Formats: sequence, structure tokens, C-alpha cells
Amino acid sequence: MQHIIHSTMLNTSNRGDCMVTRISGFYKNSPEKRLEIIAKQLNLSTEEKNTLLGNAGLSVNVADHMVENAIGSFPIPLGIAVNFKVNEKDAFVPMATEEPSVIAAASNAAKHSAKGFFTSYTGSIMRGQIQLTNVIDPYGALARIYENKEEILHRCNAQDPTLVSLGGGAKDLDVHVIDGVAEKMVVTHLLVDTKDAMGANAVNTMAEAVAPFIEKITGGKAILRILSNLADQRIVRARGVFENPFSGDKNVQEKFIRAAELAEADPYRAATHNKGIMNGITAVALATGNDTRAVEAGAHAYASITGRYRPLSHWEIGEDDSMIGSIELPMPVGLVGGVTASHPVAKVAIKILDVESVEELAGIIASVGLAQNFAALKALAGEGIQEGHMKLHARNIAMQLGAKNDEMDKVVELAMKQGKISYDKIKEILLSLQKNNSNH
Ligand code: MEV
Repeated sequence: MQHIIHSTMLNTSNRGDCMVTRISGFYKNSPEKRLEIIAKQLNLSTEEKNTLLGNAGLSVNVADHMVENAIGSFPIPLGIAVNFKVNEKDAFVPMATEEPSVIAAASNAAKHSAKGFFTSYTGSIMRGQIQLTNVIDPYGALARIYENKEEILHRCNAQDPTLVSLGGGAKDLDVHVIDGVAEKMVVTHLLVDTKDAMGANAVNTMAEAVAPFIEKITGGKAILRILSNLADQRIVRARGVFENPFSGDKNVQEKFIRAAELAEADPYRAATHNKGIMNGITAVALATGNDTRAVEAGAHAYASITGRYRPLSHWEIGEDDSMIGSIELPMPVGLVGGVTASHPVAKVAIKILDVESVEELAGIIASVGLAQNFAALKALAGEGIQEGHMKLHARNIAMQLGAKNDEMDKVVELAMKQGKISYDKIKEILLSLQKNNSNH
């Protein structure tokens, strides 16, 4: 097991093999000190640090090149989940989220997995769909499309020589006859290896370029020419072995497993179970400048692939009371092109992650989703989630009321002691604290 060190004991180390992300008490530091710890291990420059601190970051000029009618930007907190080890390599995980508890939960869960997480990836195959209508002989057309497979793939690959030179490009076809209301439609799927790019642009360009040729050989009329977000050939799997987090209490551990089982049997629970997983997954996808909606659409469509909405993860009790979690979902994320390459904060986030391939990135994201799920089930089977939430809720209210840094902890402590977290209660506590302080 990676030894646990205290943040105060850290010395300057180079990025790479000797990087240590199991840091006890990381959360107790100020944001500046936390950044310093990360910056030392990852060799972040002053400019990169300023970008994260919000002193530089996303200019309106860059924003104006990203979207239309830009008038500014919308900052979201960026935190680092610690304690992650994925495929024997330590990782600091940048997470962009507005939801309290998410980053703490991921870090805490990762600590319970001594050996860390192990992952696999099918490769970056995306599907592009070309929908054909007005086909007189749909099944004959399907056969003709396959007969022309090499020509179709050749025409697709001519669109993206760079991708092809990297070993990617259109690799295969998968053709379907689909029953529409008025007629049978022929839908050609281009199976494109997008390598380290998310690949939407590459796939859509190929689909549009090859559609006229497919129209010609089938006599049909193309309508949709667009990628599918059900990226079922771009699957990441992660497995984590966690210790029993309930101090050996088998009853609570059993409750954890029962809670996970409800998601298997009941879509109402599965939706919330998966929402918790996506709390982690979306936060890393966002921090790295990836298309969070593509990841989410893929995850939820995959969760329903059997015809019923199901959980993305599974939990089993292994030897020595250990808890074995596994997760499987599409992970259409990229490291090159798009916002990952243009957003200044995303660029630093990727540097912090220290990943060299999309396979590595996908593995870390899935591991965070699994850790998030472990943390939620652990809280739900044990004390419930409100206890942890209420502290942060109290903090948020105190901040809204203008509590100063040195007042914050005291206000939260008193509110928790009095067992009531409401706007009025926190206001009362803060005012009385400020009155007391001014009398001294
Ligand atoms: C809240 O954002 C996420 C949870 O509801 C997830 C779950 O219930 O598993 C806590």
C-alpha cells in the first residue's frame, strides 16, 4: 500500500513515479496551501497556479471564441480529490462541481481502497449514424451497403488523414433496418476509432461526407448524419476492493449491499444511485473540458440497454469482508482538440491528472464514479447523508451572511451543537458571535 503522508511533511518531488496522492489532512489546509502541495508535485508554473486561482483563467476573449454572444464566464469551484491510485499509479483528481460533499466523499472513499482501482477500456470506437428513408428494398440495400464497405470506409478516412495516421479512423460498419411509422428505414453505423479525441467532429464529418455515396448505392434519401451518444463500443470498466468501512460491523455492511440491490430491482432507486455516480464522473469530465452531456447521455442510455434502467455499478462482499465494487459505462472523453485544448483551466487540470492517453483518463473517471457510489452507499447504510451535508450547508449559509474566515468554523460548530441548521439560526449565531467579539 502507498504510504500515507501528512501534507506538512511533503517535500518537493518530481512529477511521475514518486508522486504521492495519499495525503492525510489535505482538506485542513487553506486553498493556497493545497494548491502549493499540488503545484510542487506536478511542477505547475506561476501562470498555471494563477489560472487555477482565478487570477488569469478564462478570458472573455477565449469565451467569445468558444460560444456565441459571450458576455463573460460562469466559474464553478475546482477541487482536488486525493488518495486515488488507479492501475498502481497515484493520481490527483481535479473535480469541478458546485455540490458540497462530492470531493470529500470521493477522497474519503478512495482512502478505503488500499490497493486502489483497476480498469480496462475497450478502445475509443464511436458510432456515427446515417439514416436512410425512401428505400424500396431495405434488406437489399443493407446488403449493398456491406458489399461496398471498403469504399465507404475509404471515403470516410479520406476526411481525416491525421486520425488515420495515428492508427484511428473508420474501421467497420454495422447496418440496421429500423421500423419507422411510415416505412422501414436503413441506418448505417460507421464505427470510427477516434483514439485520444472525443471524436464528435471527426465522426459527423465522415457521416456527412459519405451519405451521398450511400444514397447512390441504395436509392434512398439520407436525413440524419450524426454520431450516436450511446457509445457502447467505448466502454470503461473499473474495479475497486474496499475495506469494510463500518469498523467490522457486518450488519451495516449487509445494509450497504441491500441498498445497492434496490438499485438493481427498482428504477426509482437506480436513477438516484447513478446520479451519485455521475456526481463524480461529471465533475472530472467538466474539469478536463469534456462534453459532460455526451458522457451523461451515454451513461443513462447504457444503464437502460437491457430495456430497464439499471445501476451502472455492482457490489459484492469478497474475502476478509472486503467490498468489491465494479462499474461499467461508456466514456466518450477526449484529451486532444476541443475545449480540453483551449480552456486554460482544463489544460492545467489535465496536467494535474498526469495522464498520457484517453484510456488512462477514462479509467480514472470511472474509478471516481465508483468511489462516489461507495461513499454514498456507506453514508446511506450508516448515519445517513444529512450529517455531512448539514455542516457544509451551514457553511454556505454563513458565507452568504458574510461570515469572515475566522468566524466560519465557530458559527458552524455552534450551529451543529444546537442541532438546527437554518438561515435564521445561523444569522442569530453569527450576530451574537460578532456582538461578543466587538465587546472584547
Ligand atoms: C446526492 O447528490 C447523491 C446521492 O443521492 C446518491 C445516492 O443516493 O446514492 C447521495
